Amino acid sequence: MAKVKVEYACTACGTASPKWVGKCPGCGEWNTLVEEVSAPGPKYRGGAAADFPASRPVRLTEVQDTAAERTRCGIGEFDRVMGGGVVSASATLIGGDPGIGKSTILLQVARGLGRKGNAVLYVSGEESEAQVKLRASRLGVASAEIYLMSETSLERILSAAGELAPAAMIVDSIQTVFSSDLPGAPGSVGQVRECAARLVFFGKKAGISVFLVGHVTKEGAIAGPRVLEHIVDTVLYFEGEKGHPYRILKAVKNRYGSTNEIGVFEMRAEGLTEVADPSGMFLSDRSGDTSGTLVFPAIEGTRPLLVEVQALVSQSFLAMPRRTTLGVDYNRVILMCAILERKAGISLYNQDVFVNVAGGIRVDEPAADLVLCCAVAGSFKDRVVPPGTAVFGEVGLGGEVRAVPMAEMRLNEAAKMGFSRVVLPAANAERLSAKFPLELLPVRHVKEAISRAGGGK
Ligand SMILES: Nc1ncnc2c1ncn2[C@@H]1O[C@H](COP(=O)(O)OP(=O)(O)OP(=O)(O)O)[C@@H](O)[C@H]1O
Ligand SMILES: [Mg+2]
Repeated sequence: MAKVKVEYACTACGTASPKWVGKCPGCGEWNTLVEEVSAPGPKYRGGAAADFPASRPVRLTEVQDTAAERTRCGIGEFDRVMGGGVVSASATLIGGDPGIGKSTILLQVARGLGRKGNAVLYVSGEESEAQVKLRASRLGVASAEIYLMSETSLERILSAAGELAPAAMIVDSIQTVFSSDLPGAPGSVGQVRECAARLVFFGKKAGISVFLVGHVTKEGAIAGPRVLEHIVDTVLYFEGEKGHPYRILKAVKNRYGSTNEIGVFEMRAEGLTEVADPSGMFLSDRSGDTSGTLVFPAIEGTRPLLVEVQALVSQSFLAMPRRTTLGVDYNRVILMCAILERKAGISLYNQDVFVNVAGGIRVDEPAADLVLCCAVAGSFKDRVVPPGTAVFGEVGLGGEVRAVPMAEMRLNEAAKMGFSRVVLPAANAERLSAKFPLELLPVRHVKEAISRAGGGK
């Protein structure tokens, strides 16, 4: 009988350790090591030597140019996040909270691919064929090109995929798949890592685009070994706020496209529908007469997006006043508070500051500095800004307002959404080549911006 060895592996980074330790020697995380039972199984045959002729070095100039072959699935928001469609033989990992809509979006993607005559194998390890069919009926998916299989055994999945030779294969979810060659329960670090690697390798060899659904941990990262993200070509996260029907699809890694793009969807009974006008969506519940609330024309990937930044400043009764942020970087807010204190004469040392970006979206651009300053100052002074005002610009430590990229795109979007006044860096205003139907308020210093945003000179 094969000798069974007990080892420990880190759930965050996959580092193996012969004994249990509290702190992972690989990534330094605490309490991430779990027991892994490993026995020497049959030799892994997936290597290049077994299946491919030996390769030899070739000159870069001699390698033929081949554009990645892409198939658009017809869901514009999904195709854009993927970099322009699904690349053949690529591997994509999609993660997200339970119930966010991972199975739904992939079924809709399968429908899109099926419509173009591509066979799609949908393997569900979590639901029966009847359950998947129930969802498909609700979504109106009825394609003869989609094959369902309720299976968790890797060997049987690979053999079915080998026989069917589909254009794409969806595995929902990778945590449920297990190989009988390997010890350990389904979902253990070793099983997840090895099953994912074999599925991806199989896809590359057979020319099948593989989609793997991954569960996420409490912290929101994809569960299982970190190496999972290295194995695949594209990693997508599906996010959304509880209680909101809106879902945002983000690429955090993409070997075939930009990672800046986001896709916005609305969850409805008939499935996820594309939101073509996200600016309108994030601004829809605005009330005009609140102090500390301002609109920021953000850029997400190649698209402008208007978001509402809200600040609430109130007297603190704590020794250390609170700074709480949602949707913006905490340290950025601290920095802006310090600049307001020193350069704009706004004393926040005894004030609690809360900052939120409405709609559950995250803003990480330096161009949001000025709107943060104006919102915090507006709430502190309890001054309502004139309606139809948008603000953007980067703020330096000296309180100076710096130019930001893509100013014209931001102005266009503000004009399109009916805004009439925009506070912007003077350096951007000087370089504008087009005329905008907006009152432009160029500023050079944060103090000037606060005054002008509030309607002053
Ligand atoms: N009849 C319905 N009307 C509206 N929304 C629905 C309906 N049925 C399901 N949903 C939505 O679909 C979501 C479930 O979608 P889905 O099963 O694709 O999620 P998932 O991310 O695959 O979840 P899991 O992690 O459990 O597999 C529900 O949380 C709900 O928001
Ligand atoms: Mg699911």
